[in-house]
Parts: sequence; C-alpha cells; structure tokens
Amino acid sequence: MPLTKPVEIKPATGKLGILTPGMGAVATTFMAGVDAVRRGLSKPIGSLTQMGTVRLGKRTDNNSPLIKDFIPLAKLDDIVFAGWDLFPDDAYQAASKAGVLTKEHLEQSKDFLSSIKPMPAVFEQSYVKRLIATHKKQGKSKMDLAEQVIADIESFRKTQKLDRLVMVWCGSTEAYHEVAPVHATLASFEKGLVASDPEIAPSQIYAYAALKSRVPYANGAPNLTVDTPALLDLAKKNEVPVSGKDFKTGQTFMKTIISPGLKARLLGINGWYSTNILGNRDGEVLDDPESYKTKEVSKLGALEHIMQPKLYPDLYGKMHHVVRINYYPPRGDNKEGWDNIDIFGWMGYPMQIKINFLCRDSILAAPIVLDLALFMDLAQRSGLSSVQEWLSFYWKSPMTMPGLYPEHDTFIQLMKLKNTLRYLKGEELITHLGAEYYD
Ligand SMILES: NC(=O)c1ccc[n+]([C@@H]2O[C@H](COP(=O)([O-])OP(=O)(O)OC[C@H]3O[C@@H](n4cnc5c(N)ncnc54)[C@H](O)[C@@H]3O)[C@@H](O)[C@H]2O)c1
Repeated sequence: MPLTKPVEIKPATGKLGILTPGMGAVATTFMAGVDAVRRGLSKPIGSLTQMGTVRLGKRTDNNSPLIKDFIPLAKLDDIVFAGWDLFPDDAYQAASKAGVLTKEHLEQSKDFLSSIKPMPAVFEQSYVKRLIATHKKQGKSKMDLAEQVIADIESFRKTQKLDRLVMVWCGSTEAYHEVAPVHATLASFEKGLVASDPEIAPSQIYAYAALKSRVPYANGAPNLTVDTPALLDLAKKNEVPVSGKDFKTGQTFMKTIISPGLKARLLGINGWYSTNILGNRDGEVLDDPESYKTKEVSKLGALEHIMQPKLYPDLYGKMHHVVRINYYPPRGDNKEGWDNIDIFGWMGYPMQIKINFLCRDSILAAPIVLDLALFMDLAQRSGLSSVQEWLSFYWKSPMTMPGLYPEHDTFIQLMKLKNTLRYLKGEELITHLGAEYYD
C-alpha cells in the first residue's frame, strides 16, 4: 500500500539500445552474458536488477518482491547493443582476444557476438598512450567528431527502431586531467569543441553527443568526462541522468565492505597497503603513468571518505594508504589483489588482516554494466536528471553535486539505492528504527 504519492514512471515499452564506447573485455563479457541469460543458458549472477529483492513494509509482512517485479525495468529481451572501438574487431573477436570467457561460452554466443561490429572511435593518442587506433573517425574539429557520434546514435535509434537509449563508457582509462577553463560553462565547452581544445577528452566528446541526444551517460572509468560544470549544465538543461565514476568491482569493493566494519567497532588503522597484478588490455593501459594516475586517485578516495580521519583523529589520523597496480601479462583478466591492513585495538595493541582476492575483473564488472544501463533508463523514465547519487553503490568514486562528499560505504549505498526505488513507487522508506515491533 503506497504511503506517499508515487513518482510517475513512464512504462518500459519498446526496445532499449545500450551503447558502449569501448568494446573490450568488460563490454563483450556483458554482451555475452546477457545473450546467455536470454537463452536460458546462464543465471544473471551479480545483478541486483535481475536477482535482487526489495523489502516492503514491516519485517513481519514477509513482502520482498524481486526488484524487477517491483519497478518497471527494461526486459533483457528488449535490449539491443552497439558500440565504438579503436579496433575493428567484432564483439566475438574482441571477446576471444580478451580471454575472459571459455571457448565453450564464446562458441555458444558466436553468431550473436559476431553481429555486433564497432563503429569507428573518437580517439586522441595523448589520452591513451599505450593503444594505437586502427579504426577511428577523422574530423575537421572536435565539434565535427561530436556531430559524427550524434549521427551514429541517431542511425542506431532509427535502424533498430529503439524506444530509448543509454550509454555506458566501457573504454580505456584516459590520462589524468583536471577541470580546465574550457569545462567551466557549456558555452566555453562548445567553443572549445569548435577550436579542438586539447583539454577536451575523447570521452567528453561521446558524453556531449549522448547528452545532446538526451541519452543518459554512465562513466565506467575514472575519467573526468561528465564531472565538469559544462557537461553537468547540459545534463540539467536537457534533463538527462548522468552517473559515475569507475565501476566498483575487485579490491575497492572489498575495501568498502571491510573498512565500514572496522570503523563501526572503532578499531584503529595505521596502514592499508593494496597491490594488484593484472595482465589484460586495461592493465596495459594502466601501465602508462598518466592513465594510472587517474585510476590511483579513484582508488585512494574511498578509504579516506569512509574512515573520516578528521572526525576520528586517534583512530585514522595517521593512516598510511598505498595502492599499486602492476601489469603482469600471464594473469590476463584474472587479477590478483593483496591487501595488508595494519589495525590496532584496545590499549593500542597491533593486529593484521590479509586479504588475497583472486578475482575476475570483467566477470565482476559485467552485471554492473547491466544494472547501470537498466537503472539509468529507469531514472530517465522517472524524470530524474543530472547526477544520480543513488547509484553510488556501483562506483569507486561516486559523483555528487558540488559541495557534497560522496558516500562510499557499500551498505549505506545499498540502503540508499533501495530507498530510492521505494520512494519512486511511493512505498514507506525503511529506516531500520523498528520501534513499531515493540509498541
Ligand atoms: N573490469 C573491471 O573490473 C573494471 C573496474 C573498474 C573500471 N574498469 C574500467 O572499465 C574500462 C574497460 O575495462 P576493460 O577491462 O574492458 O578494458 P579493455 O582494455 O579490455 O577495453 C577497453 C576498450 O576500449 C577501447 N577504447 C579505448 N579508448 C576508446 C575510445 N576513445 N573510443 C572507443 N573505444 C575506446 C579499447 O580499444 C579497448 O578495446 C576501463 O577503463 C577500466 O579501467 C574496469
């Protein structure tokens, strides 16, 4: 029984196009997985939209429907894929090279994956030093390139008879850039596109094209992209949702599970040393110090925000946090992460925690791409626009409106996400106060 007025949500009728700039390991694993689930060959493990539930009302009501039955989301059968890449490989060839999936899984989706051919990319060498593009657009200016991407989007919309679209960045991590004068306003940004300002990254050209086309944009890498006043203005003006940054998958996911627990028990931390080895193309790109810097900033932020050293100087004021990523080709996509955590307890006695996570990067990222695409589409149909902070759950560096600090604790993020779904449907929010059980 709704308690407040539900938000008007447009129905998820017709087809949803999912566009991925970047058709590498993550994007192709996502596509292959959706195909397998649609054909009943696999379960959508790791996907909140497909397997998660949301409790409604009191604990005694026993009412926890599946999220996808509670709120209108696009159906997997209604999804159509397209993307861009620096290389002309179709999704089958790209997935085979990425080495994430077994031969058996590749073969079962061969026809489907082979049919997804990338459109030529927008690329600038200085932003990704380690890759040499063989499949890119030529343009007179960055504005010309943006117009070509807009034309790609429109042609996909028309030929596939799509009802709605979303864009999820699955391209490489770009070199570290901060907000520059060209990003100050939409007018300065558009002038910069015409003048091919070097501070405008390829990812920002895709994002501009998406927002101009009223297509929601989710940023799977730590790139600056839409986290600039100019593009946030455009998102607001065109009423388009944006969200980011950097899929929270392996080591940071573990960090944002364990650190809130240590803080909850007021255990101190002297140091947290995190190191990784990985050997996929992402690892190769991150081997370049400028791309690595973008990732490092993203990975370092979570712990600082969760532990709040200014509020707890005795416990976290001297915390030494180090993050390393080492490119090690023999491991391919199967990353290994080590964490050593030096903690201290009662009377200052030291203890240690060691985490050794042998994970599969793209297997962890693929369901996140799916959930983000479906929730960003839901956001747009619900009339939500600009920064979607309720999707912080999925990000290493959650975007917030200027002046707000991000929420990194995975469990607070999940509560926020589910409460947003309840709010959209006019259901009572769950505060966990629980006093009503004892009245
Ligand atoms: N896998 C994870 O767990 C994870 C977690 C967080 C973030 N990410 C980020 O997601 C992104 C994708 O990861 P991946 O493992 O698939 O990497 P990948 O290297 O396999 O794929 C990226 C693809 O993007 C293409 N690309 C680069 N610049 C492009 C451009 N301007 N336009 C179009 N295509 C472009 C590359 O050619 C490549 O095929 C990376 O930025 C990575 O840092 C991944």
